[in-house]
Order: sequence, then structure tokens, then C-alpha cells
Amino acid sequence: MTAPINLSMAPIHGITDAVYRQAFAQCFSGFDRAVAPFIQPRQGKPLRSGDLRQLAPENNRDLRTIPQLLTNHAETFSAALKELHGLGYDEVNWNMGCPYPTVADRGRGAGLMPHPDRIDSILGQVLNGSPVKLSVKLRLGYNSPDEFIPVIEVLNRYPLSEVILHPRTAAQMYEGALDLERARHAMSICRHPFIFNGEIRTTEGFQDLRNQFGDAAGWMIGRGAMACPCLPAMLKGSEFPSAENRLIQLRKFHELLFEGNRQWQSGMSHLMDRMFEQWEYLSMSFADPHRVQRRIIKSRNLGQYYDAVGWCFEQELVEKLQSDKGTEAQS
Ligand SMILES: Cc1cc2nc3c(=O)[nH]c(=O)nc-3n(C[C@H](O)[C@H](O)[C@H](O)COP(=O)(O)O)c2cc1C
Repeated sequence: MTAPINLSMAPIHGITDAVYRQAFAQCFSGFDRAVAPFIQPRQGKPLRSGDLRQLAPENNRDLRTIPQLLTNHAETFSAALKELHGLGYDEVNWNMGCPYPTVADRGRGAGLMPHPDRIDSILGQVLNGSPVKLSVKLRLGYNSPDEFIPVIEVLNRYPLSEVILHPRTAAQMYEGALDLERARHAMSICRHPFIFNGEIRTTEGFQDLRNQFGDAAGWMIGRGAMACPCLPAMLKGSEFPSAENRLIQLRKFHELLFEGNRQWQSGMSHLMDRMFEQWEYLSMSFADPHRVQRRIIKSRNLGQYYDAVGWCFEQELVEKLQSDKGTEAQS
């Protein structure tokens, strides 16, 4: 019997916020849970009110959410875990993959990867009496693609709930070939449930990965599902919906995103900026995404935005899932 497919929505800062996660879960199926985009706890201070609002249980009812922390300071880390436990969370994810120099150069995110000793010391302090389970999301490395080896050896000594790997180095950011050989090595030495993350964009590409990573406990999907929100359901066996049904789902999704963001964003320009960001991915459901996006970002006020949205929803949708970038991967 084949194992059930366990799918997580990847954290995408600026996109998969609470409004997005709720709207997605109300319009599309397939995801079992989501890891929320990172929050950065501050030393000696409570979590920011904006972060608390993002993670408030009432704003995360429709999809099980796991908060993510970006920190390298054990005390601050522990305090944040307690606060998140107080909100009702029983699991939190630690970000060891963020590649941005402003983060990584300060020894956070992927900047932790060259320092297994530091990771060891932080985990030792944080997991001692932690009220919640901890998982880790990492890359192959910051400076070298083999940094994951000593890091996983450290992770193996702690009771983590899972390890999520995006098999790229920090220098690659989010592009270029995935290193599937190293990903298989990582899975083989990792004693925790292993989650594969990267470039899952089509059912064929996914099947190919399943053939290579049969022992994976689950899969995390980011941009593939942002570009084609029916993808998670399709990976679990659903057909690609008809254009008519996709249009209905997409309109509803847009409406929920717009209404949700209208309540969350202060003022028209923030609301429109947020929706422009969303259209970077929404546009990919259309046959000519660039044209759709251009039309949207020309809007200067809400009236023009509504007109542009009306025009977009009259445009043709894609006929099939976009080509599979995963085939570029080194295997
Ligand atoms: C714009 C952007 C923002 C991201 N924000 C986060 C984040 O907050 N936390 C995190 O762990 N990963 C973050 N990621 C990485 C994704 O979670 C994921 O690892 C990456 O996109 C690869 O998966 P995909 O190919 O399925 O998109 C971000 C990626 C992008 C492109």
C-alpha cells in the first residue's frame, strides 16, 4: 500500500499570510497544513502585535498552521515558543534556510548552516523544557552544499518533529538546479521525518520525485501551488478542473483575498500593493500572464483596479499546468 500524500503549503513571505492561507483553504483542497512565513522575535520583548494577529487562532481556522521563527538567540527563541504555545500552538518551525544577506550574514536563517556547534547549543537550550514540538527548515548550505551533513548529524541528536529540506545553497536563492543527489543523501542520514521542498509544479514532476524520494514523510509546495492553486488537489488524484470551474474558483479566491486584505491593510495604496503582489501568482492561471499582470499594475485607484480585474477574468486561462522546472534538476 502506498503511503498517503502529506502536503504542506510553503511559507512565502509577502504572499502566504493568514488572509491567503484562509482564502486558499476555502477555495482549494489538497494541503494538509501550512508553515507560516517567518516572524523575528525580539530580545526581551513580546512578539509584535502584527505577528500575533497573523497567528491568532481565529485567523487560522481553515488550515492547520505552524508558525515559523527566524532567530539565533536561544533565550529569545524559548520566550517566543512559550508565547506561541500560549496562543494554542503545539508545533513551531525554525528557519535555517533564509538566504537573504541581511539575514544570513548575521548568522540567522541559512547563515546558521556553517555553524553546527551553534545549532547544537541553541537546540540544547531551547528544547530543554520546550512546551511545543520543533521542526527545522533548511537548505544544503550557506557557503558550501555539504554543510547539511554535520548539521543533520546535530539535528539527529534532538527530538525534532521533522526536517524540511530545500536542496539548494543560499547563493542559488530560489533558482537554478535542485541538487537531488545531495537531497537523497540528506534523507538517508536524517533520522527525523523528512519533507522534500522545491519546484513541485506538475503531477509528472511530482511522480518523478516520489519515485526518487519514496521514503519522504511529506512534501512542501510553494510557488507551484501559488501559480496553480489546484495543484495540491491534483497531486492527490483530482483531475485538472475545466476552465469554467477554474474561473469560478479563481474569482472566489480573488474576492476572499481582496476582502480579507481590505480588512487587514491600512489604506488604499497598501491594499493595492498587496493585491499587485498577489497577482504575480494569480496571473499565472491565465494563458497570457504578463498581459494580465500589466493590466492590473496599471491601476492607480480602486475603480481602475475593479475594471482591470473584470477584464482579467474575461481572459483565457492556461490549458494545462506550466512546464515542469523540476526536470532541470540534477539527479
Ligand atoms: C518570495 C519568497 C519568500 C519566501 N519566504 C519564506 C519564509 O518566510 N520562510 C521560509 O522558510 N521560506 C521562505 N521562502 C522559501 C519557500 O518556502 C520555499 O522553500 C521555496 O520557494 C522553494 O519551494 P517552491 O519551489 O515550491 O516554491 C520564500 C520564497 C520566496 C520565493
